[in-house]
Formats: sequence, C-alpha cells, structure tokens
Amino acid sequence: MPERDEAGPAWAEVESYITGLFVGNDAVLDEVLRSAKEAQLPPIEVAPNMGAFLNLLARTINARSILEIGTLAGYSGIWLARALPSDGRLITLERNERHAGVARANFERAGLADRVEIRLGPALDSLAALAEERHDPFDLVFIDADKASLPAYLEWSLKLTRPGSLIVTDNVVRGGRVLDAETTDPDIQGVRAFNELLSGHPRLVTTEIQTVGTKGYDGIAVTLVTG
Ligand code: SAH
Ligand code: DHB
Ligand code: MG
Repeated sequence: MPERDEAGPAWAEVESYITGLFVGNDAVLDEVLRSAKEAQLPPIEVAPNMGAFLNLLARTINARSILEIGTLAGYSGIWLARALPSDGRLITLERNERHAGVARANFERAGLADRVEIRLGPALDSLAALAEERHDPFDLVFIDADKASLPAYLEWSLKLTRPGSLIVTDNVVRGGRVLDAETTDPDIQGVRAFNELLSGHPRLVTTEIQTVGTKGYDGIAVTLVTG
C-alpha cells in the first residue's frame, strides 16, 4: 500500500486505479502505445485519464471541429476524434514525418481516418496556412507540441477560434520548473511567456490544474475564449 502522507509513490498506482474505473481496457489505444514504443517514439503522450478528460471536454461543448498541435502517435488525437460526430473533423499538426506515419496508421486502426487530417510540417507554417485559407473557427484547440512556441501557438489559436471555443494546453508546470523566472531553458521561458499572455487577457478566461501520475508532475491550462 502506498503511504497516505507520501503522495509521490502513490501517483502511478492511483492513476492506474482511476483508469481501471473510468477508462478500462481499450484494444485500439493499447495498440497505439505498442506501435509508438516499437517505433521508438518518446513516451510523452497524455496519460489515459487525461485523454479521457480531453474527450469529455470536447463532448461537453459538442465540438465538431478540433485542432491539435503535436500529433506524435495519435494517442490524444484518437481521444479527441472519438468525441466528434461522424461529420466532424480533427486537424492535427506534426512536423516529424515518422511520427505522422505512425499516427496515420493508428487513426486508420481506430476507424477515425475519415474525420482526421494530419498536416505535416512545422506547426507555425500549418497555422499560418489555416489562417490564410480562412478555415472555419475551431471549437477546441489542444496545444501539445514544442513549449518554446507556446506564446505563438496561443496567438494563432486566438485567430482560429471564436467566443465559446476552448483552448487546452499541456505541460504548463513541468515538474515545478515553471517557477524559475531566471531560467535559460527555452521551453520554460515559453511556458512563462504563455502564462503572462493568458493572465489578465481581456478575451480569455483561464485556469491551470496541476497533474501527477505516470507522466510525472506537470499541468494543463484550460482557456475559454470569451470575446
Ligand atoms: N499530443 C500527443 C503528444 C504530442 S508530443 C499525445 O498526447 O498523444 C509532441 C509532438 O509535437 C511530437 O510528435 C513532435 O514531433 C511534435 N512537434 C514538436 N515541435 C513541433 C513543431 N514545431 N511543429 C509541429 N510539430 C511539432
Ligand atoms: C515533452 C513534451 C510533452 O508534450 C509532454 O507531455 C512531455 C514532455 C517534452 O518535449 O519533453
Ligand atoms: Mg504534452
């Protein structure tokens, strides 16, 4: 039994307990993780209960159109796309061709290829292209690529959403390193600049939730576009 007063060692066990209750066995998602491991992709997809949370948020707002920045093997993308109606759409941005290839096979395996589009290339280029083609506003944006670009991803997300849209951003705590104002780490600088943009933004309501579990100690930002 994990110690009650030592949260750390219990995190993974409690996550496993939670996912046992609310996620259960999922052959498709198991295969996604297996394929990612086999292709030696970094194990940085969201935890199962976070995937379920993304799905729940998307369903809560009846999302029909979702943008994801950072595809990897398609794990979070499958959770998001499963929230869509059959004529809904997930556009997911990935610069790494190998990651995109693994993800493409996984979206097919999940029976979601008809509603998922992977756009290959640097996300900043794909975001500019989406704005250029005047893509209809997305109902939900999930930001989960490189952290140095977070401020830019937020600015593009504002251009590509409407009042009522949600923007969810992964990895905003980074083991507590977000507190280090003197850091020279561009990822942490990116998170801090992102937080400064969010804080007191006239068009945005945000809170951040710290997360623990198999993915360590981190957090997500949940932002509502209001005006
Ligand atoms: N959302 C995924 C995990 C994404 S990991 C999940 O939870 O399942 C981050 C991904 O972003 C990696 O695949 C990486 O190749 C990609 N990435 C990093 N920087 C990028 C950039 N500038 N443009 C597009 N993709 C990028
Ligand atoms: C990293 C990126 C992620 O999106 C994540 O969830 C964990 C780690 C990384 O780049 O190290
Ligand atoms: Mg992440």
